[in-house]
This record gives sequence, C-alpha cells and structure tokens, in this order.
Amino acid sequence: MVEKDYLLSPSILSADFAQLGNQIKQAEDAGADWFHIDIMDGHFAPNLSMGPAVVEACKRATDLPLDVHLMLEEPERYLDKFAAAGASILTVHIESCPDMDKTQQMIHDLGCKAGITLNPGTNADTIQPYLKNVDLVLVMSVNPGFSGQSFIPEVLPKIGKIRKMLDDINPDVLIEVDGGINPETIRPAYDQGARVFVAASAIFKHPQSIQVGIESLTEKL
Ligand code: DX5
Ligand code: ZN
Repeated sequence: MVEKDYLLSPSILSADFAQLGNQIKQAEDAGADWFHIDIMDGHFAPNLSMGPAVVEACKRATDLPLDVHLMLEEPERYLDKFAAAGASILTVHIESCPDMDKTQQMIHDLGCKAGITLNPGTNADTIQPYLKNVDLVLVMSVNPGFSGQSFIPEVLPKIGKIRKMLDDINPDVLIEVDGGINPETIRPAYDQGARVFVAASAIFKHPQSIQVGIESLTEKL
C-alpha cells in the first residue's frame, strides 16, 4: 500500500451551519486531516463570513488542527483572538501585511504555525523573502470571497515555482491549494507540488454525502 502523502483540509465555508458539529464529525470520520476556516471582513474580501466564535465552536467539535485563513485588512489586530479561540495555523495574505516579518513573529509568539498566502494575480516572488520563517504556503486558486468558484488554471505553474523556491529555502514546508478543488483539478495541483488540499463545495455540497465528496477527491491522489 502506498503511504498517504497529502492532507485534506475541508473548508467549512460550504457547511450547513445549523449542523456544523455534525458535519465536522462526518468529514473527520471520512478522513479529513485539518479543517479550513475562512475568515473574511467585507474589505479585503468582498464577503463577510465568520469570526473567532466559530473557530472556538470548531475547536469543541474536533481535535484536528484548525487551519485559519485570514482574508482581512490588518490581520495582526485579530491574531491573538483567533489563537485564543483554538487556531493551530494562522495564514495571512501578502497583500494585506505590510510588515510580514513582524506578523509571522507575532503568530509564532502566540504558539501557532504561520502560513503565508497570495492571491491568484500576485507574483510568487513577492513571498520569497518570507519563506525562511514560514510553516505553510497557501496558494489561492480563486480570488478570495466565495466558495463554488472555478479553479484558475494559470496558478498551476506558480505552485511549481513556489515548490522549487521552498526546496532551496525551507524544504519541509508544505504547499496548500485553495479554491475550485474538485476531482478534476486536485491531481494537476498535486502534480505541481501541492500536498494540502482545501475544498468547500466539493465536500460539503456533494450531492450524495460528505464522505463521498471526500472519497471523490482522494481517489485521484
Ligand atoms: C475562498 C476561500 C476558499 C473557499 C473554497 O475565498 O478561501 O477556502 O472556501 O471553496 P471551494 O472549494 O468551493 O472553491
Ligand atoms: Zn480559504
């Protein structure tokens, strides 16, 4: 049997919030490794989603790591609140962090793993100076805001480029891909070097079940 070399991080953005704990449990039983929680402020991203109270609720629903994606202006103002709520990983955007070194240090001082992310239109070179201190690189394959968008295929070579940069600078760091991941797009992202896969609609909106949604992704890897 081939050993599993990827992680699946279902995004609760497409979950049924009236049944959140139950849906988290279903995803966990079906093989989820982390849970991805999308935080949006209506400024950096054109949508409002959730805050620390939802992270705290997820923390009570699962012992798996909580992968918190901060699509916020001035994310440093809220890092302590999300850490206190139970975040394991705090991922911030290069586009909204004017002092990324300081923000990464703040995340580490709070006892969390530090992720860095970039929008589809942002060049990979912008994150290069920060890769030495990072724990995770999240490559956005849709523009922040909504689940259910189509994967932007132009990001595929960027995943490969960042993988090469990490191999030189910080080889243990994993690349996570987020947006439009479905049974057709997951394998090309894997082939470029992504090893953590976020999916919201492909899992929580699967017409059969959360379990079948997860299996339909992992059977491609
Ligand atoms: C987009 C979010 C994504 C989103 C993914 O702003 O960062 O995590 O939930 O949704 P799907 O998997 O449906 O594209
Ligand atoms: Zn996300």
